[in-house]
Amino acid sequence: MRSSRDHHRHLPPLFALLIFLYLLSSQSAVRASVGEGEGTPGVVGYGYTVGSVAVDASGTALTAGLRLVNATSVYGPDVENLRLVASFEASGRLRVRITDADRCRWEVPDDVIPRQSPSPPRRTPAPPPLPSPSGSYRRLSAASSDLVFVLRDTTPFSFAVSRRSSGDVLFDTSTSDPSAFLVFKDQYLQLSSSLPPGRSSLYGIGEHTKPSLRLQPNQTLTLWNADIGSWNLDVNLYGSHPFYMDVRSSVGGRGRRGGGVGAGTSHGVLLLNSNGMDVVYTGDRITYKVIGGVLDLYFFQGPSPEAVMEQYTELIGRPTPMPYWSFGFHQCRWGYNNVTDLEGVVAGYAKANIPLEVMWTDIDYMDAYKDFTLDPINFPVEKMKEFISNLHKNKKKYVLILDPGISVNETYGTYIRGMQADIFIKREGVPYLGRVWPGPVYFPDFLHPSSESYWSGEIKRFHDVLPFDGLWIDMNELSNFNDPPPLPSTLDNPPYKMNNAGVHRPINNKTIPATSLHFGNISEYNAHNLYGLLEARATNEALVNLTGKRPFILSRSTFVSSGKHTAHWTGDNAATWDDLAYSIPAILNSGLFGIPMVGADICGFTRDTFEELCNRWIQLGAFYPFARDHSDKGTIRQELYLWESVAASARMVLGLRYRLLPYLYTLMYEANRRGIPIARPLFFSFPEDTMTYNINSQFLIGKGLMVTPVLKSGAQTVDAYFPSGNWFDLFNYSNSVSTASGMNVMLNAPRDHPHLHAREGNILAMQGEAMTTEAARRTPFKLLVVVDGHGNSIGQVFLDDGDDVEMGGEGNKWTLVKFYCEKTGNGVVVRSEVVNGEFALIEKWVIDKVTILGLRKGTRMTRLRGHELSNDVEATSGQRTVKTMGKSSDGGEFAIAE
Ligand code: GLC
Repeated sequence: MRSSRDHHRHLPPLFALLIFLYLLSSQSAVRASVGEGEGTPGVVGYGYTVGSVAVDASGTALTAGLRLVNATSVYGPDVENLRLVASFEASGRLRVRITDADRCRWEVPDDVIPRQSPSPPRRTPAPPPLPSPSGSYRRLSAASSDLVFVLRDTTPFSFAVSRRSSGDVLFDTSTSDPSAFLVFKDQYLQLSSSLPPGRSSLYGIGEHTKPSLRLQPNQTLTLWNADIGSWNLDVNLYGSHPFYMDVRSSVGGRGRRGGGVGAGTSHGVLLLNSNGMDVVYTGDRITYKVIGGVLDLYFFQGPSPEAVMEQYTELIGRPTPMPYWSFGFHQCRWGYNNVTDLEGVVAGYAKANIPLEVMWTDIDYMDAYKDFTLDPINFPVEKMKEFISNLHKNKKKYVLILDPGISVNETYGTYIRGMQADIFIKREGVPYLGRVWPGPVYFPDFLHPSSESYWSGEIKRFHDVLPFDGLWIDMNELSNFNDPPPLPSTLDNPPYKMNNAGVHRPINNKTIPATSLHFGNISEYNAHNLYGLLEARATNEALVNLTGKRPFILSRSTFVSSGKHTAHWTGDNAATWDDLAYSIPAILNSGLFGIPMVGADICGFTRDTFEELCNRWIQLGAFYPFARDHSDKGTIRQELYLWESVAASARMVLGLRYRLLPYLYTLMYEANRRGIPIARPLFFSFPEDTMTYNINSQFLIGKGLMVTPVLKSGAQTVDAYFPSGNWFDLFNYSNSVSTASGMNVMLNAPRDHPHLHAREGNILAMQGEAMTTEAARRTPFKLLVVVDGHGNSIGQVFLDDGDDVEMGGEGNKWTLVKFYCEKTGNGVVVRSEVVNGEFALIEKWVIDKVTILGLRKGTRMTRLRGHELSNDVEATSGQRTVKTMGKSSDGGEFAIAE
């Protein structure tokens, strides 16, 4: 086998060009000036060349040695020898991992995201040498995948990923532009791929606040978890998710291999790396500029957006199920003064007849902002116990906040036990001293093997005092009110300056220093973006062990796979029309990141809200997967009952939300099983409709429920896009929109008319309106059947007790019923199929009303009597027709709108 050095010597003289590398600015990429041959593909001096190549016995994994051609002079020395492994894994996903061939480097720990190790490359017979001259390529494919990996033995080497079925190139690192070459240094890694201009719509890479869900060209997306208010546009925020979905529009002609690329063909790409990075998107190129770790890329073949989510969450972990109650309405505020204040808010909701499920307390409840303590004056323990007990009696819940910073205070048990367990993150051998709400703090190290027992011990002690129902973990980026001065280390002062906070802010500012150390000498530099994820994981485990029930956790900071442990909210927004609008891309992105339980602070967090805004906000926020009103200390109060118009809207939209609870909960089940978000961009259901690719002001709940909120001051109308089909106004079934191929419609939207439309083809399982989710669950079911042009539609409902740790797990009682509406002769039949029927919430589980929308005039109705599902549930499982032909006049069960 030829060594990489031999291979280098065989390069034709043409390759021996002089390269002058220079740094244009401290933030720019490596830029090179090339001499003769500039712009000629494959003719440059910088980058890596392929040395050896070996393929494993199964033929689905390839290992290549890469060797540096010429070093660059910026951002530190280059790594000489790299190893590239391309391998096919479960569900046809392709992994391409490039790392230092000689030294171990930091990678996201395996217990965070379990990785599949490729089968070892075969040793005998020796892999055949690459044919000369250079420029040849190796192709790797697998029967399970539509993806093809191509390694090109050019100088520099490049690789590409394409679709076998169509030949469409999904990712391609070949370029004649030296500034886009592969760079691999200790503290600077760069990888760049071209994208087909105009044909590729990218979604994801966050967390950022943006007006547009679709990535816009010429943006630098920085990933470095930071406590930066989400009212700031286009800067790094609380979470890091180096994942994007690429939705392709069709190729003019047919694809190279005759398959053609249909509009909406989608794939996903994850760079699994926890280090800080800038991702530069130009429209025809995506470039990762990463300050450490390895290049570990995953390609998810799709081809539908739903399939991409299924494949992505198969790798990173499916979203954790949320308790049924958490789909109720939540009220929070920073600045509730005392228990009487809390009681007044609960009473205010009751008096106004607005459902309130969960009451929250922010840091106000604590004694001097110390976690796991109660302010003895304003939130005394006995009064708080009584308050919670009353909430529980009324079937309501209570959630409280925890911050990671533990007050440095010799008389504080949580601090003392933390010191005894040696649990805090260190710098220069001693716990690192930060400053947050309580003043001086140490931060627990969630990479420490004892951290889970420490953290769960503290949670248990407090839960024994105060039986809270869920935990809100905040400030976990980590947030630090200090700007730690750098030590003389390239960790605190890395050669490449990310666009932190949009101003290339030093890496340590407002967080803990990069030179801090976690257990096992893991630097904060490497593990920074993991903190919120690890805290959520520990908190989730603590609550499961403590209660044996499904936990509810809300985390501000997240990373890849956080959805496996927690819900998320979009952080500190402002009470402005802009932030109302931007909440839509923000919640949709969270869904793409595998965190479907998400919402924004309803009515706005910072700044004083006002009646019109709050009214429009609840009309939208009632349909966030997670619906919570929350506001900043010092702002005016914004409980929904405070203005009559807002209260009226709240009754209307939360009334509908509570009627839709079985539908929402079933979407949680779908998210937990398959990773498909609850709130989805329109292109999820209509990938072929390219008009949906740029929509930022509407979204779907599940497959066929579309929310079109008013987002502008003074507006009495709202512009909506309706993809093809018949759509029915959920607040007035006789309003409908029909379009064969999609159209823009201006809807009347006076302040008391929010817009939610159900699309043909869907059956929504609903229940009655109530003031708590518990009471809503005791009401009879109602089916809303929206038939399509052929008289068909489908839906399903999942039910269990709402707080089993697993959703639909073995050993749990659960029920899944599928509903079908089908045309038979000149009538339609609605039938149910009980997939599993072990759980029945109430003794008599009744569908008391079936509303069928979209029937053609003169369609004979099939009768569906007040069918008792409990019989199905107890008797057998399997297919079952609810009721066959009959006359609609026989019973009062139907509401028909034609
Ligand atoms: C952070 C949170 C906010 C909370 C405040 C006080 O700013 O994002 O929601 O109210 O801290 O705890």
